[in-house]
Amino acid sequence: MIRVLFVCLGNICRSPMAEAVMRDLVEREHLSHKVEVDSAATSSWHIGEPPHRGTQDKLKEYGISTKGMQGRQLQKADFEKFDYIIGMDESNIRNIRTMLGNPNSPKIFRFLDLTDHRKDVPDPYYTGDFQETYDLVLEGCRALLEKIKVEKQL
Ligand code: 4NP
Repeated sequence: MIRVLFVCLGNICRSPMAEAVMRDLVEREHLSHKVEVDSAATSSWHIGEPPHRGTQDKLKEYGISTKGMQGRQLQKADFEKFDYIIGMDESNIRNIRTMLGNPNSPKIFRFLDLTDHRKDVPDPYYTGDFQETYDLVLEGCRALLEKIKVEKQL
């Protein structure tokens, strides 16, 4: 199994959005038996909470469910468990490297560095713009799936 983990600050806006969008793409390509997707927070602020209402509503617009999703915090064991550990912004990347104790691992990288944007995913918790975030997340997930297919020969 290939395991993908998206990480953001709160695990209620950006990383659950990426998790749900990626899972949807993986299901559409009939790769669910090969690729597993999860998300986590660097903070402990929203453990056990469902995704933010704005994330839920935006995903619902595109027919994607967030049923059963719950915030959790990144833990040290995630480093061994996951093949791709993807931060939404540069600050997440710094925190992931510190929390997991593997500062140089190539499996930790910033999401939109997979795209021509090469920037942080804007945080809709502050911007209020869930559409902008969704569009970038979708682009990032498409690029990630292509990368996985090439690297893992799917
Ligand atoms: P996220 O957004 O990292 O995309 O889930 C945030 C969620 C909550 C907070 C900040 C950012 N907060 O301050 O509680």
